[in-house]
Amino acid sequence: MEHLELYNGVKIPQLGFGVFQIPDHEAAKKAVLSALKTGYRLIDTAQSYMNERAVGDAVKESGIPREEVFITSKIWLQDFSFDGTQKAVMRSLELLSTDYVDLMLLHQPLGDYIGAWRALEKLYKEGKIRAIGMANCYPHVLADLCETFEIKPMVNQIEMHPFFQQQLNLNIMKEYGVVPEAWAPFNEGKSDFFNNPILTEIGAKYNKTAAQTALRWNIQRGVVVIPKTVHENRMQQNFDVFDFTLSDEDMAKIKEMDTGRSEIVDHFDPYWIKALHSYKF
Ligand SMILES: NC(=O)c1ccc[n+]([C@@H]2O[C@H](COP(=O)([O-])OP(=O)(O)OC[C@H]3O[C@@H](n4cnc5c(N)ncnc54)[C@H](OP(=O)(O)O)[C@@H]3O)[C@@H](O)[C@H]2O)c1
Repeated sequence: MEHLELYNGVKIPQLGFGVFQIPDHEAAKKAVLSALKTGYRLIDTAQSYMNERAVGDAVKESGIPREEVFITSKIWLQDFSFDGTQKAVMRSLELLSTDYVDLMLLHQPLGDYIGAWRALEKLYKEGKIRAIGMANCYPHVLADLCETFEIKPMVNQIEMHPFFQQQLNLNIMKEYGVVPEAWAPFNEGKSDFFNNPILTEIGAKYNKTAAQTALRWNIQRGVVVIPKTVHENRMQQNFDVFDFTLSDEDMAKIKEMDTGRSEIVDHFDPYWIKALHSYKF
């Protein structure tokens, strides 16, 4: 497994396992156990996914030492305030049955995320969190946060796949030393992602699928990827991306696939923002 180093020296695996949309306890626990058996050592959960307990149970049941598994979680908007976020982090520690989280993210740069960030800074200094970061920051927002916060984000987790490449965001992250992490590295399967002719054709040269080609492309851009699947054969397929290298020509062809927009969420639509604020669990 390749690793990237955050600016505070913490090492993060470049390939992890996402558990969004697996709210059922047994299903999530089974998926995480299979992922750990496959070799994944980064699990990406969130309070809003309602499966932190399942992640904690699976890590314990796996018998893998806690320090060998990198656990990421995220705080949702309903807990964005200095006090609310401190309480929410404690809740995560309890549900995950651990006394520290490797990476804690604020799920959206919305609401009182400044107050919430101050809480993460405090808990980071106290050693309850090994690294702190943001999710869903567009480049202008990230630049503002990096100029404002005492401790700048170590990670920015954003949607990134061949249809939505976010190159400017990557450039800004590089400038501030923030490690990029891609959510929905398969565009959640939208636009027939897994049968895309360009990805399929490039992958075929290396005996790889469109999914593997897309993961490899992000890995070669210096991005951490966290694909989700509940199927063990797909977990293995998605894990098997470190034995080939896309050529410059392949990378250039994939670059042309960028549509410059998301099909999943529109952070520039006020009705989306309203919906994100009204989501509570
Ligand atoms: N920070 C944020 O706001 C945010 C937002 C969204 C997601 N995330 C994180 O990012 C992770 C990944 O994103 P995502 O789950 O939204 O989408 P994704 O990983 O792009 O796509 C997941 C979909 O692809 C399918 N799939 C996976 N591997 C496959 C393969 N090799 N061949 C064919 N189909 C395959 C899965 O189906 P099956 O499960 O049926 O195999 C599932 O329907 C999440 O789980 C979560 O941890 C973060």
